[in-house]
Amino acid sequence: MNFDETDGQKPLARMTYWQKTFGCQMNENDAERVAGMLEMAGALPVSTLEEADIAIFLTCCVREKADERLMGQVASLKNIPPAHGDKRIVCVGGCIGQRDGEKLQQQLKHVDVVFGTHNLGHLVRLIERRMQTGTAVAETIESNDGFSSELPLHRDKPWHAWVPIMTGCNNFCTYCIVPYVRGREASRPIEDIERELNGLAAQGVKELTLLGQNVNSYGRDLYGYPRFADVLNIAGTCGVERVRFVTSHPKDLLPETIEAMAAHPTIMPQLHLPLQSGSDRILSAMNRKYDTARYRSLIATLREKIPDISLSTDIIVGFPGETEKDFQATYDLVKEVSYGQVFTFIYSKRAGTPAAEMDDPATHEEIQDRFDRLVALVQEQAHAENAKELGATVPVLVEGTSKRDERFLAGKSPKNQTVHAPLPAGATIDEYLGRIVNVKVDETKTWYLRGQLVDA
Ligand code: SAH
Ligand code: SF4
Ligand code: F3S
Repeated sequence: MNFDETDGQKPLARMTYWQKTFGCQMNENDAERVAGMLEMAGALPVSTLEEADIAIFLTCCVREKADERLMGQVASLKNIPPAHGDKRIVCVGGCIGQRDGEKLQQQLKHVDVVFGTHNLGHLVRLIERRMQTGTAVAETIESNDGFSSELPLHRDKPWHAWVPIMTGCNNFCTYCIVPYVRGREASRPIEDIERELNGLAAQGVKELTLLGQNVNSYGRDLYGYPRFADVLNIAGTCGVERVRFVTSHPKDLLPETIEAMAAHPTIMPQLHLPLQSGSDRILSAMNRKYDTARYRSLIATLREKIPDISLSTDIIVGFPGETEKDFQATYDLVKEVSYGQVFTFIYSKRAGTPAAEMDDPATHEEIQDRFDRLVALVQEQAHAENAKELGATVPVLVEGTSKRDERFLAGKSPKNQTVHAPLPAGATIDEYLGRIVNVKVDETKTWYLRGQLVDA
C-alpha cells in the first residue's frame, strides 16, 4: 500500500488523536496502522475523545446496526468541544467510508476527512490537506493498493500480531456487502509473509493471527491454486508460539490444510468455520457453494485429525424465505456439531446485494423467536464445552485483568476460551501481560473458565 512518507517532518506534531474501531479483525489490523502512521507524523494518542484534536472512526457496514451506531456517534460529536484548538478534525474510514465516499459528508456536515479501505496510507496527507485548505476531503478508490502491512505500525498488544495474507473477497454470498467494500481477492506473495513471520518471531511476539476474508483461497490469484497449507506450514514453524487464522470458508477448506493444522502444535486447536445455515435450500440461496453434507464431512475430518479441536461458527437467522423447517435444520446441525462459540446474527438487508431484492414472508416476531431459541442452545453448548476443561491445566496467554475484578488476570486458552485466575498477592498485572502461564481450572461458566495459577 502506498504510504505518503513525510521525510522525517512531523506534520501533526503537538496534535492529539483518538480512534474508535468497529467491525472485524480487518479494521483492528488497520487501526494499528493508523496509530503507527499518525504517531510517525507526530500525533500523540489520548484515551478520551474530549482530549482529541483528531478523531478517527474505522467503520463497518456488514449489518444495519453497525451503520446506525456510527451515524449516532458521529452526529453526537457536535456537542463535544475539543480541549484545545478551535475544531476537532473528524475522519471516517473503513467500510462505510469506502461505500459512501463524499456522500457521507452531505449527511454528516462535520465530517472532515473520508477515506476508503484502499486509501489508508494517505490518511496523514488527507488530514494535512484539510488543515491547510479548510475544506472537507474524501478519497476512495476501487482497487486494492497493496497491503497495509507495508505501513508503519503501533501494536495494540505488543505480544500479538495480525498478519494479513490476503484482502478482498470473490464469493459474493447474496446477503453480504463485504466484496463491494473490500474489493476482489488479492494475495500477498508468500516470500513477504515469510519475511514478516520470521521478523515477528525475532521480536518475541507470542501469538499471530493470519487474516483474510477467506484464507482458504489464499494464493488462487497468484499461483493458480490455493496454497494456504504452505502459509500454515511456514507460520507453524516460524518460532511464534501460537498461530491462529480467520476466516475459513467451508467450500475451500482442503484436506492438506487440515493436515497442516494437525502437524504443528503451534497452530492452536481452534477453527472458526462459518456455517450460516443448516438448510441446503437456504445455503444455495445464499450462494455459499457447499451443502450440509460437505460441512458435516469437514467436521468429521477435523475431529478425526485434531481430536481436541474447538469449533466456532457464524449463523444468520431469518435469511429471506427461511421457513420454520429451514430454521429447525440449522438448530439441529448446531446441536449436532456442538460449538465452543457461535456468533448469531439476525439477517440484515444490505442495499445493493442480491438478497435485498428477495421477498421474505416471515414476520419480525417469528425471526426473533427463532433467534432466541438458537441463542439459548448456543449458551448451553458453550457451557458444556467449557465444562470439559474442569480439572485440566491449561496454558493461558495473559491479556489483561478481568473486567469484573482487577485482582484476576484474564487471558486465552489454546481453544480461545477466556480464563481468569487470581493474581498472586503483591503481584501486578504488568508482570504477567503477554506471558503464557498455567492455570488449573476449578470452575467453568458459559463465557469463561476460572482457576488457580500453577507451575508447569
Ligand atoms: N468472510 C467471513 C465473514 C465476513 S462477515 C466469512 O465468509 O465467513 C461476518 C459474518 O457476518 C458472516 O459470517 C455472516 O454470518 C454475518 N453477516 C454478513 N452479512 C450479513 C447480513 N447482511 N446480515 C446478517 N449477518 C450478516
Ligand atoms: Fe461475505 Fe461470503 Fe465473502 Fe464472507 S465469503 S466476506 S460472507 S461474501
Ligand atoms: Fe465490517 Fe468491513 Fe469487516 S463491513 S465485517 S469491517 S470487512
